[in-house]
Order: sequence, then C-alpha cells, then structure tokens
Amino acid sequence: MRIPILTLCALSLAGGFALADDDHHGGKKYKRPKQLAVPLSAPKVWTAECGSCHIAYPPGLLPPAAWKQQMDTLKHHYGSNATLDKADEQAIRDFLAFASQANRLPLEPSPKAGEPPRITTTRWFIRKHDEVTAEQWRRKSVGSKANCQACHAGAEKGDFDDDRVQIPR
Ligand code: HEC
Ligand code: HEC
Repeated sequence: MRIPILTLCALSLAGGFALADDDHHGGKKYKRPKQLAVPLSAPKVWTAECGSCHIAYPPGLLPPAAWKQQMDTLKHHYGSNATLDKADEQAIRDFLAFASQANRLPLEPSPKAGEPPRITTTRWFIRKHDEVTAEQWRRKSVGSKANCQACHAGAEKGDFDDDRVQIPR
C-alpha cells in the first residue's frame, strides 16, 4: 500500500484515525468523509439560514473544527454577511458540532487567506473530482464548485453516490 507523504502528515495530525473509508480509484487509495446523510434531527433554523444562499451543506462534509470556524466568522462569510441572532447561532453551532462528529478528517484551511475552510478545496474533494474537466466546471449550469446540487441531485440530503452523479450540459 502506497500512502502519499501528505496523507501521512494529515494522519498524524488527526491523531491516527483508521483508514476505514478508503476507496480504490485509479489504483490510488484515499479517503472521503463517511457519514454524509443529514440527521433527521436537523433543526429548521439550520435548513432555513444555512440553506438560503446555497444548499445547507451536509455537516458530515467538514470536521467539527471547520464548522466552528464557519460559525466564528459569519460576519465575513466569503464576501457575504451571514450573521444570525444569538439563539439561532447557538442552535446551529450545536447541531453542526453534533452532526459532524464522525468526520475525523483534518482541518484544512482555505488556500485563500482570511476565508474560513472550504469543502471544495479539501484534498479529498479535489481527488474525487479529478475527472471533472475545467470546461465542465466553467459551465453556466454549474456556476461554482460549491454548487453541489448541479451534479448531485440529492446533495441536500447528503447523497453524493457516484452512481447518481450527472454533469449538466
Ligand atoms: C448571505 C448568503 C449566505 C448565507 C446566509 C450563508 N452562506 Fe455560506 N456561502 C455564501 C457564499 C457567497 C459562499 C461562497 C460560494 C462560492 O464560492 O461559490 C459560501 C460558502 C460556504 C461554504 C464553503 C463552500 C465551498 O466552497 O466549499 C460553506 C461550508 C458554507 N458557506 C457554510 C454556511 C453555513 C454553515 C451557513 C449558515 C450558518 C451559511 N453558509 C450561510 C453565502 C452564504
Ligand atoms: C460539475 C459537477 C459536480 C459538482 C458541482 C460537484 N460534484 Fe461531486 N462529483 C462529481 C463527479 C462527476 C463525481 C464522481 C467521480 C467518480 O465517478 O469517481 C463526484 C463525486 C463526489 C463524491 C464522492 C462520491 C462517492 O461515491 O465516492 C463526493 C462525496 C462529492 N462528489 C461531493 C461533492 C460536494 C460536497 C460538492 C459541492 C461542494 C460537489 N461534489 C460538487 C461532480 C460534481
């Protein structure tokens, strides 16, 4: 088994979690988040507030420390102001912490300074999407890498199964 050096570093940083979720892809091994289904207990305030500008990203996509950074920086949220009242913010914080706890992947800062962590710049995301071409990403029907549901119809429910992926024209 060949593991790239970077992965080894990430593993030791994360405290040595098991490589239980590796996939075989082009002969290489790599991991992706495991629990992507959105819990039925998801509060309405999360769906409403975090799903108003883009889909409410399933919490399992990022580790708890990344969601904490999201919630700590809502005033400067990728060029938007996404601040909430105290009670709503706390409810969303608690939900994200609880629902992302199975994600043991390391916190990966955004390559762009001053931005909270992204899903779309994580190593697993880049590897999983290495077959999507630059032309496909640029399509109007896609718009942004962050627009998961353009290709994953069930994204809001946490369904990213590669059997159901469809890149729009
Ligand atoms: C006022 C609009 C707005 C609201 C409300 C909002 N966001 Fe965002 N969010 C954005 C924009 C704009 C981006 C950048 C999208 C892009 O790069 O295409 C973004 C990006 C993100 C990303 C990173 C996507 C990637 O590229 O990986 C995450 C994660 C995220 N938001 C989480 C949240 C959470 C959690 C909430 C609720 C607390 C929230 N957002 C509420 C506007 C918003
Ligand atoms: C332009 C279309 C497109 C967009 C937009 C897109 N994806 Fe994908 N995604 C794909 C394709 C194609 C694959 C399948 C790769 C393969 O067959 O191995 C994939 C695979 C995945 C997988 C792995 C599925 C599996 O069964 O292993 C995950 C997880 C995933 N995407 C998450 C996301 C998330 C989260 C977003 C938004 C932040 C997103 N994708 C945006 C096209 C897209």
